[in-house]
Order: sequence, then structure tokens, then C-alpha cells
Amino acid sequence: MSRYAILTTLLLGTGSALNNGVGKLPKMGYDTFNAFACNYNATSALAQAQAMVDSGLVEAGYNSMILDDCYTLKNRSSNGTMVADPSKFPNGMKNFTATLKSMGISANAYGDNGYETCAGYPGSYGHEVQDLLTWQDWGFNYLKYDNCYIPFDNITQQNMYGRYQRMSNAIAEVSAMTGQPPFEFSLCEWGWEQVYLWGPRIAQAWRINGDIKPWWSSIASIIDQASFSYFANNFYSHNDMDIMEVGNTGQGNPVGNLTYDEAKSHFTAWTLLKSPLIIGTDLTNATNETIEILGNKDLIKINQDPNVGESIAPFRWGVNPDFTSNASHPAEYWSGNSSYGVVFMVLNTQDTEAQMFFNLTESWAIQAGRQYSVYDMWSHTQNRTAVRNMTFSLPAHGVAALLLNDAGEEPDGLFPYCGFFYQCAFPNGTYSTN
Ligand SMILES: *[C@@H]1O[C@H](CO)[C@@H](O)[C@H](O)[C@H]1NC(C)=O
Ligand SMILES: *[C@@H]1O[C@H](CO)[C@@H](O)[C@H](O)[C@H]1NC(C)=O
Ligand SMILES: *[C@@H]1O[C@H](CO)[C@@H](O)[C@H](O)[C@H]1NC(C)=O
Ligand SMILES: *[C@@H]1O[C@H](CO)[C@@H](O)[C@H](O)[C@H]1NC(C)=O
Ligand SMILES: *[C@@H]1O[C@H](CO)[C@@H](O)[C@H](O)[C@H]1NC(C)=O
Ligand SMILES: *[C@@H]1O[C@H](CO)[C@@H](O)[C@H](O)[C@H]1NC(C)=O
Ligand SMILES: *[C@@H]1O[C@H](CO)[C@@H](O)[C@H](O)[C@H]1NC(C)=O
Ligand SMILES: *[C@@H]1O[C@H](CO)[C@@H](O)[C@H](O)[C@H]1NC(C)=O
Ligand SMILES: *[C@@H]1O[C@H](CO)[C@@H](O)[C@H](O)[C@H]1NC(C)=O
Ligand SMILES: *[C@@H]1O[C@H](CO)[C@@H](O)[C@H](O)[C@H]1NC(C)=O
Ligand SMILES: *[C@@H]1O[C@H](CO)[C@@H](O)[C@H](O)[C@H]1NC(C)=O
Ligand SMILES: *[C@@H]1O[C@H](CO)[C@@H](O)[C@H](O)[C@H]1NC(C)=O
Repeated sequence: MSRYAILTTLLLGTGSALNNGVGKLPKMGYDTFNAFACNYNATSALAQAQAMVDSGLVEAGYNSMILDDCYTLKNRSSNGTMVADPSKFPNGMKNFTATLKSMGISANAYGDNGYETCAGYPGSYGHEVQDLLTWQDWGFNYLKYDNCYIPFDNITQQNMYGRYQRMSNAIAEVSAMTGQPPFEFSLCEWGWEQVYLWGPRIAQAWRINGDIKPWWSSIASIIDQASFSYFANNFYSHNDMDIMEVGNTGQGNPVGNLTYDEAKSHFTAWTLLKSPLIIGTDLTNATNETIEILGNKDLIKINQDPNVGESIAPFRWGVNPDFTSNASHPAEYWSGNSSYGVVFMVLNTQDTEAQMFFNLTESWAIQAGRQYSVYDMWSHTQNRTAVRNMTFSLPAHGVAALLLNDAGEEPDGLFPYCGFFYQCAFPNGTYSTN
């Protein structure tokens, strides 16, 4: 298949995004897995929730928490229901979710498409409706659904799409049965080539990559994959770039080593590419820089734009020729539309400081012949007016996040007469450069 044919197929695939009334905007919240794996309980999870409240992150929009793997007993009860682990949740699961809700945080469940979750707790294969009813009774209204220990093909007689569709169908069934809104459904399945073909038909979010790691090469490779799947993003339809590692500088987690600039680039890409924003680091001792990055209201308001669902898209790859996949040097020049102006993300993928340059009209969302005011979404300042182009330097792995707004006609007498000079002519039919 040619690249064009592949793109056309993908675009048609995304035409059928599932809009069942939930999950219009990217989910924001916390996930217990990356910082704690199975080592958490009601007390330590609520300590994260309290830190979210105290640091202002709940107010900034992080209003949900995914209890990831390991919150039940390994065996179901005699009637087949999941049982919350009473040693981890001594006051019961309903008490836990009610406490979260009193803090302004809704409860998101984790489950699995197979016999067991990845850590060996009950999987929902064959228990889809029963488990949704349990989660709903416990106070959850969102499901992150993993893909470990799935049955043999001769048992399911379904492809991955059909196996995930079992739960999507059960969600619709339980909603009809109980009169409650359907669960928001997030696929934790990382065969990214296929996920954005069928994910949008049955869910509101789907992973596009394997598990994130708290170092730059992982962040860069996820951005590279996102540069080829950005068009799957819209309302009710979100590429999930995975739990965020912002703040994992190696202090909280000995293997993490993101720099401040890398963490800013990470957060910029996740917000502007309309990924769910799910915090994965220990917030009880987060630095002020970590809270400043995660709480960047200028970027969050674009991620949560109620009028524009599309994400930014690359207009030039930069280090590499356009449409080149390179895990270390993803696309550097991105732009898109928003309710607040034309958005630009410029990323320095090199290991040294670099000069960045772009012509405004390289972005489809810019009007030629106009000049633009420039707002910097990291310094939170109104900068110079941009005429025709912008140039600035960025540190290694650094980012610029800019919001451009129309500031009137460009000054008289600029040459060339056009951004794309080879396409414009005098009325007598002579090209302006002749
Ligand atoms: C919850 O976890 C914390 C931290 O690991 C631990 O100190 C505490 O004893 C645990 N509480 C219960 C009820 O298990
Ligand atoms: C859990 O179920 C397994 C398999 O049915 C059984 O062998 C085991 O004894 C059970 N464990 C508990 C604690 O009930
Ligand atoms: C199933 O068992 C659980 C745990 O023993 C119990 O809480 C629940 O009420 C039972 N459900 C039904 C439908 O009997
Ligand atoms: C949770 O349980 C504790 C201990 O019984 C109780 O003090 C608290 O009020 C309960 N919280 C909610 C929200 O039900
Ligand atoms: C499915 O395949 C496995 C492995 O070949 C085999 O052991 C099992 O009997 C088959 N099950 C069915 C239901 O055909
Ligand atoms: C946060 O707490 C963890 C666990 O106690 C510790 O290892 C880490 O160094 C702390 N991080 C910071 C940034 O203080
Ligand atoms: C960060 O950690 C990764 C994984 O251990 C390693 O490959 C990389 O070289 C480290 N980067 C820096 C700048 O130390
Ligand atoms: C971090 O922020 C808090 C609250 O704004 C402030 O009191 C504290 O001094 C800051 N700490 C540092 C190291 O800047
Ligand atoms: C915008 O101005 C601020 C404040 O002077 C500066 O820190 C920032 O780097 C500027 N942004 C760009 C893209 O030049
Ligand atoms: C950038 O635009 C200015 C007009 O504002 C023009 O003078 C300059 O030549 C342009 N730079 C490049 C490299 O195209
Ligand atoms: C920017 O515009 C200038 C002037 O039209 C042109 O010479 C240059 O090739 C353009 N650069 C890019 C990267 O589009
Ligand atoms: C076309 O018009 C331009 C601008 O007036 C002029 O410079 C140019 O010489 C004209 N070309 C011809 C072939 O008349």
C-alpha cells in the first residue's frame, strides 16, 4: 500500500469515533502504577489525592484517579464477583471512592481483557457485565482495560478488535440496564499500528505505544509515533501517549533522569497532541518545578479546548526529511488550531542548543499577508509581533509553546511579496521573482 492509501484508510477509520456522550475531552487524572506498581493502599493513594488538592492540581483539572492493577484479592468470591482487598482497603472500596469524591476526584478502574490482569489479579474475560456492575457499585465510571493473559484464538475466535469489543458492548449493555451513563473506555493495548484503526470505533482513548520510561529516548520515540497518528485525535477520540513521567528526575525514582527542559517538552507534546493527561509520579514530595509544569494552565486549556478537538500536527520534521520516522529525532515543527489562537510547538530534538526557524505560512492555520502577536505559553508573556517568520534558540531537548493571534496586515514593502514566492504573480502573469 502506498503511504497515501494508508493515510486515507486511517482517516476513514477515524470517521467512526465512538460518541456515546462520555469522554469528549482528554481525561485528566492520576494513575497509581508507574510510581507504586502494586505497593499502594487506600492510605497511600489518598495521600496522592491530598497532594493533588494541596498543590492546586485538582483545581487545574486533574479530577480523577485510576486505581491501577492490584486492588482486589487474587480470587473472586464464590458467586464470581471481584473482592476489594480488605488489607489495602480496610474501610471498603465504596468508602475509598467516596473519600476521593469528597476531594473533587472521581474514581477510575483498571481491568483486563483476559483471564488475569498483568499482575495476576482477576481478569474480566467472561465476566464483563458482572465486573462493570461491581465497579459501578463501588463508585467507578471509567475503565482502563489491559491486555494480559488473553485466551487462545480457538476460544475467543476473535481478533484483538473483537476481543476488546466484548467489553465495549458490555458497557453499552450495563448503561442500558442501569440507566447510568456508559463507562468511559480507555484501551491499554499497544499494537499502535492497528489501535488507531479500530480503537475509535469502540472506545474514547487507546494507547499508541509501549510503556513510557522516564528518560528522553522514550519521550522522543512516543512523539515520533504520535507524528504519524495525530489525525486520530478529536472529540471522544484520543491517542493515549501513556502515563506522564513529568517530575521523574531520578530523585523519586532512581531510574528516571528527565531534565527540566525535557519534562517541559514531554508535557507540551502530551497537552497539545490532546493526549489524556495522567500523572504518574509521586506527588507527595514533588518539586515546585514539577507542579509548575503539570499545572501549566495555558497548555491545559488547549488540551481541554471545548470547541476544537483536533491536535497539532507536524508541518516540517526538521532534522530529518518530512515523513521520516526517527525515534531520536521526531518532527520538530508543529502547529494547529485552537479557540485561543494558532498553536505552535517547536521542539529541539538535538542534544545541544540549536537555532530554530520557521516561516509562519508553513502552518496551514496561518493567514498569509497578516502579522501575528506571539504569546509564550511557558514564560506566560506576550512577546514580539511575528512578521513572516520566527527564529529563536532552544536548549537541548527544549521546547517552545506559542499562541499566535492576528495583529493586522503585514507591513508594506516586504520582499519576496509572498510567503510561497514561487506561487504568486503580477496581474500581467509574470511571477514576482522573474
Ligand atoms: C499502607 O501503605 C503504607 C505505605 O506503604 C503503609 O505504611 C501502611 O501501613 C499501609 N496501610 C495499610 C492499612 O496497609
Ligand atoms: C484461589 O483459587 C485457587 C484456584 O481455584 C485455589 O487453589 C486457592 O486455594 C484459592 N485461594 C484462596 C486464598 O482461596
Ligand atoms: C457475591 O459475593 C460477594 C462477596 O462475598 C458479596 O458481597 C455479594 O453481595 C455477592 N453478590 C451476589 C449477587 O450474591
Ligand atoms: C470512611 O470510613 C471511615 C472509617 O470508618 C470513616 O471515618 C469515614 O467517614 C468514611 N468516609 C466516607 C466518605 O464514607
Ligand atoms: C485450543 O488450542 C489449545 C492449544 O492447541 C488446545 O489445547 C485446546 O484443546 C483447544 N481448545 C479448543 C476449545 O479447541
Ligand atoms: C520522594 O520520596 C521518595 C520516597 O521516599 C524518595 O526516594 C525521593 O528521593 C523523594 N523525592 C524528592 C524529589 O524529594
Ligand atoms: C537516562 O537513563 C537511560 C536509561 O537508564 C540511559 O539510557 C540514558 O543514557 C540516561 N540519560 C542521561 C542523560 O543520563
Ligand atoms: C515552593 O513553593 C511553595 C509554595 O508556593 C513556597 O512556599 C516554597 O518556598 C517554594 N520552594 C522553593 C524551593 O522554591
Ligand atoms: C518570550 O519572552 C520571554 C520573556 O522575555 C522569554 O523568556 C521567552 O524565551 C520568549 N519566547 C520566545 C519564543 O522567544
Ligand atoms: C524573515 O522575515 C523578514 C520580514 O519580517 C525578512 O526580512 C527576512 O528575510 C525573513 N527571513 C528569512 C530567513 O526568510
Ligand atoms: C522561508 O521563506 C523564505 C522566503 O520566502 C524562503 O526563502 C525559505 O525557503 C523559507 N523556508 C522554509 C523552511 O520554508
Ligand atoms: C509585469 O508587471 C510587473 C509589475 O508591474 C513588472 O515589473 C513586469 O515588468 C511586468 N512584466 C511584463 C512582461 O510586462
